[in-house]
Amino acid sequence: MYREIATGLGRIVTLSLGGRLGRFGQWPPEKLLIDEPLALLEERTNRLERIYAKCTANLWDGPAVFRAAMNRHGGIQLAPEKRRALSHVIVTLMWGELGAWIISAELAERLDAPDARMAASSQVFDEARHFYVLRDYLAALHVPVPKLDPYFVAGVRSLLATRDLTIKLMAMQILAEGSAQSIFRFLADSEIEPVLTELLPYIEQDEARHVGLGVLHLPERLTELSPRQCRRLQRDVYAIGDMFGLSLISKVEHYEALGLDPRELFRRADGLLTTLAEKLGNVPGTNERYFRTDDPKDPEYEKKLAFLFPKAEPSGASRLVKSLLSLGSRTLPV
Ligand SMILES: [Fe+2]
Ligand SMILES: [Fe+2]
Repeated sequence: MYREIATGLGRIVTLSLGGRLGRFGQWPPEKLLIDEPLALLEERTNRLERIYAKCTANLWDGPAVFRAAMNRHGGIQLAPEKRRALSHVIVTLMWGELGAWIISAELAERLDAPDARMAASSQVFDEARHFYVLRDYLAALHVPVPKLDPYFVAGVRSLLATRDLTIKLMAMQILAEGSAQSIFRFLADSEIEPVLTELLPYIEQDEARHVGLGVLHLPERLTELSPRQCRRLQRDVYAIGDMFGLSLISKVEHYEALGLDPRELFRRADGLLTTLAEKLGNVPGTNERYFRTDDPKDPEYEKKLAFLFPKAEPSGASRLVKSLLSLGSRTLPV
């Protein structure tokens, strides 16, 4: 019995040593292992490359589209008081486009991944066109150009100033681009002015690609961050997101002056941002998303909307929020 065990062990050791010293001594080759499923990585790379390809395939001539729309409709068709209200919305979108132009140029210069860099490079062309078209449209409204609200200014300045490309990808490509896409779609569907209604689908289709860059490239970057870095990112993105949210709330009177229901805009924007936040998952070690969103499917959602935008006589708390917002608008630096 002991002899059989000893013989068996001897065979095992001999075979094992022989194998280790033989031709296949290094088998299996661990360098063949990968950190992430290749099929998913290839899919992401292909989709990022497609952003660049789609941009070149769908390139539209901004000035030509603008001129054609103006000629077709005989200029801007909107009453003077509605022009003034619309200018507050357009001026924010226009300066937002300039911010997106600067940030996409930085992403094109500084991102490491070549496919993400190509997507950002194509975005630079888009944002330049959006800025010029909206600037033309604002000029065609023939009303004094309003100042930006301080919430929007603070959010964009902070986003421009940071050197952290992950913050830029999350707060600009996801939060700002996602919100802008919702506003463009809302204004287009509302058909408040025919020239604008004709221009907006072109811009909106480009913005969807820009959100795509954030959604496809961010997961790769997030895996490289420690849980602590992820929490810091969340804190910074929350702060910028709050500024954009306040900016949108401060425009409510202008949407109402255009005959639009701001609640519908918030439902749409919150719906899209909730979907995008889900795609990025939770901050490690928490059950929180990377940025604040309110899910329109939440049973309490409509109550929150009614609190922010009361249809009847506003409650004391609603009036207080409105007064604080307006105080901020008047006193914060622009
Ligand atoms: Fe844009
Ligand atoms: Fe964009």
